[in-house]
Amino acid sequence: MKVFYHRVTNRDQVGSYEEIEDPRIGENEVKVKLKYAGLNHRDLFVLGRQNEGDPPLIIGSDGAGVIEEIGTDVKGFKVGDEVVINPSLRWKEKSDGAPQGFEILGGNHTGTLAQKIVISSENIELKPAHLSWAEAGVLPLSALTAYRALITKANIQPNETVFLPGIGSGTITFVLLFAKALGNRVVVSSRSEAKLEMAKKLGADVTINSNTDWEEELKEEKINVVIESIGEATFNKSLELLEDGGRLASFGGTSGYNLNVNLFEIFYRQISILGTTMGSQDEFKEMLKFVEKHKVKPVIDQVFPITETAEALKRIDEAIQFGKIGIEIED
Ligand SMILES: NC(=O)c1ccc[n+]([C@@H]2O[C@H](COP(=O)([O-])OP(=O)(O)OC[C@H]3O[C@@H](n4cnc5c(N)ncnc54)[C@H](OP(=O)(O)O)[C@@H]3O)[C@@H](O)[C@H]2O)c1
Repeated sequence: MKVFYHRVTNRDQVGSYEEIEDPRIGENEVKVKLKYAGLNHRDLFVLGRQNEGDPPLIIGSDGAGVIEEIGTDVKGFKVGDEVVINPSLRWKEKSDGAPQGFEILGGNHTGTLAQKIVISSENIELKPAHLSWAEAGVLPLSALTAYRALITKANIQPNETVFLPGIGSGTITFVLLFAKALGNRVVVSSRSEAKLEMAKKLGADVTINSNTDWEEELKEEKINVVIESIGEATFNKSLELLEDGGRLASFGGTSGYNLNVNLFEIFYRQISILGTTMGSQDEFKEMLKFVEKHKVKPVIDQVFPITETAEALKRIDEAIQFGKIGIEIED
């Protein structure tokens, strides 16, 4: 099979599409022939940790394809089943935090930028029928994270308003789609007017430019929940927007992790800060049911052939994309 390898050579990250031996399956595993994969900001962070001389990496946490081979102890699936990959490894039941041993696919574990992947049968689910292969391929990591952040952790209630900074994000576009499917009022920000226009088309009720005075722009709004993933550049502004007693769910820090926070804002106004990461197998199944019930379709920015992964990653690095970037895997 062919895979997209990343190596660091002369301090440069170099990608190459190479033939390697097919992986063998264990008794509880399946081999999936991938049709589409998806990229996430995480892929850039994973590559950023790679050093000269490290073994080549196969990144990629999102994917969908067809089961080609099945381990002897696998129940509930058969060869030919169309499946999506759950990138949340070794986290079965819904719990406040992830259990010991939890890991995300596409770091230490071989990822989805390959023609085939061998993975535990606990990490596959049947592909929602209303999704195309590209849509199924970009769904997993972001949709799972968005579901747990908005529904499990922030526990969004009817009639509440949610604020989403950085609507260009692949994950945040899912939060917008899920919140609108639930009937909530959604306020979004972006540094790009074009992305704000796209967000309006997806149902955003109010849009503001990230470079404006948010408190002034949104003085008429009562924000109950913020889903925050940008970190340094927006966290304090997000906090100030919340109604007293509001909830802020945080799952990332694209612009940086170090904050100088006014604690008075948190305790006196009784704000709940909710850390959240990915989700369990239970939540992955719940998310797929939700997506099927509400006929949610991922927002795909662009699809690149696997051989053009470097260009695709550049688009994320420069924050040009709106939504998810798909990778078409060669047959
Ligand atoms: N903990 C978890 O389980 C988990 C899961 C998924 C993602 N994450 C993290 O969440 C973040 C988002 O991931 P993603 O894959 O959805 O990212 P993405 O598609 O690359 O989107 C990032 C968005 O953040 C906004 N942004 C970036 N830098 C900014 C700045 N300096 N000021 C204002 N806005 C800025 C941009 O929105 P605009 O272009 O609209 O301004 C950009 O499109 C990443 O940090 C990722 O590692 C964590």
